[in-house]
Amino acid sequence: MSGTARCRRPTAAAAIALAASCLAAGAMAAGKAVPLEMEKSASAVPWTRYADWPKTDWKEYNTLTALVSPPYAPPPRLEGPVTGDPRNGERLSFDRARGGSCVACHVMGPTTPSMPGSVGPDLSTIGTWGRSDEWLYNYVHDPRSVNPHSVMPPWGAHKLFSEAEIRDIVAFMKTLREPAGFKDELENPATRPVPVETRDNLDPFVNNAMEAVEQGKALYARKGPAGKSCASCHARPERLFQGWAATMPRYEPRMKKVLGVEEFVTRHARATTGDDFLMQGAENTVLAIYLRHLANGAPIRVDTKAPGAKEANARGQAMFERKIGQLHFSCNDCHSAGANKWIRGQWLTGQIGQVAHFPTWRTSRGEIWDLRRRFQWCGVAIRANELPPDAPEYGDLELALTAVNNGQKLSVPGIRH
Ligand code: HEC
Ligand code: HEC
Ligand code: HEC
Repeated sequence: MSGTARCRRPTAAAAIALAASCLAAGAMAAGKAVPLEMEKSASAVPWTRYADWPKTDWKEYNTLTALVSPPYAPPPRLEGPVTGDPRNGERLSFDRARGGSCVACHVMGPTTPSMPGSVGPDLSTIGTWGRSDEWLYNYVHDPRSVNPHSVMPPWGAHKLFSEAEIRDIVAFMKTLREPAGFKDELENPATRPVPVETRDNLDPFVNNAMEAVEQGKALYARKGPAGKSCASCHARPERLFQGWAATMPRYEPRMKKVLGVEEFVTRHARATTGDDFLMQGAENTVLAIYLRHLANGAPIRVDTKAPGAKEANARGQAMFERKIGQLHFSCNDCHSAGANKWIRGQWLTGQIGQVAHFPTWRTSRGEIWDLRRRFQWCGVAIRANELPPDAPEYGDLELALTAVNNGQKLSVPGIRH
């Protein structure tokens, strides 16, 4: 391609402008191989979960790498009508410690606790719907027995509730005959106003993560163990990397995996400055934010056509459908089927709009999260073991999710609840 040829030999006068456009087109890698360390892991080994996250090991259930969840089996046959303790069933239905509780997704009559969700139908009058005991029992034990496309967790089959507990829950549902009657529009998921993020994420007085841009800039100019800084080789990053981050993640044929900005930083720094900026470490995050900030305003344009990228994108798309964890959800259950509904007090977003602001400041946690950490959390929240941040599966997922966001303009660091 003539573009690549021009990239290799820029005239002195046009060098900087050309370099910027060549990088933006992703042609630079074709001109001169980008130095990368390719042997070691880019994240801590062994990977250990964040200390303040849940500690359970859900090894009996699917992850994005392992298919180990118990295969579907029909529910045990009910002998006679369900007799259970409706009071205990009510308590269990509302218990947040048991898989997040039924009211994360359903309204359940006048005693429904505060801020119920709306992913599932309002069950307040299910006692009048003429559902048989068997239907109710089977639906809760494993909804696949009634509806193969259900997005509801298999509460019995995945051991979240015992058989006796499910009977109590069924007994409770049979008593439900009255609408909830909410005290205000906020309590009712049908009228609760949808949150709109209006904070100015690029205002340092609003977004604490704006500090990271300055820290990243300083780190860019700091010499590493090899005696060079990023600036030693790339003197004008504002021009040079104007569009680069918007082309990431990218399939790297030499490693046969997708690299996002964060993993690129780890591997490129090891090969050039000699620094060891592990993924999700503070230095990695601030450099990644700085590089993305340089590309703010550039529309995302990731390549899903190149050899290898196409397959990675297809794998990532398939991964969005995979049911993982004890709660047995796919990403799509929440971010496609469940999108634009309430899961408890949280409004579920669709895939478009989910990446252009990462890494992002999370006000509810007082932490910066990169995209891979968000993937890890969405796993752990549904009781699926997370993968290390440099897992190839996350690369595929990041590529597929970012491709859906092609055209969205980068605005980093973001700010979210
Ligand atoms: C993550 C969201 C979610 C949670 C949590 C959840 N459900 Fe559901 N539930 C749904 C959805 C969605 C449907 C309807 C379609 C489907 O199955 O996907 C449903 C359907 C049902 C039905 C069938 C209603 C009918 O038409 O007869 C029953 C019964 C039910 N849920 C009970 C429960 C109980 C009891 C719990 C708690 C142990 C619970 N659900 C927790 C999402 C959820
Ligand atoms: C010893 C020189 C050297 C140092 C130090 C260095 N780089 Fe590079 N970098 C390169 C080379 C060579 C390339 C390949 C493209 C080219 O010909 O410039 C490259 C490419 C890049 C690219 C574009 C990659 C692509 O996919 O096209 C980015 C972004 C980048 N470097 C960022 C950095 C950052 C951040 C640092 C500091 C951690 C750094 N570089 C340190 C030599 C260096
Ligand atoms: C049980 C529901 C659930 C599942 C399953 C789930 N997520 Fe999430 N996810 C959430 C919630 C809740 C949020 C925060 C609210 C929002 O942005 O939707 C969120 C946020 C996100 C965000 C950040 C959105 C933003 O704009 O900041 C990304 C990216 C994301 N999820 C990706 C995934 C991926 C990838 C998977 C599959 C591995 C997944 N999620 C599975 C519930 C879920």
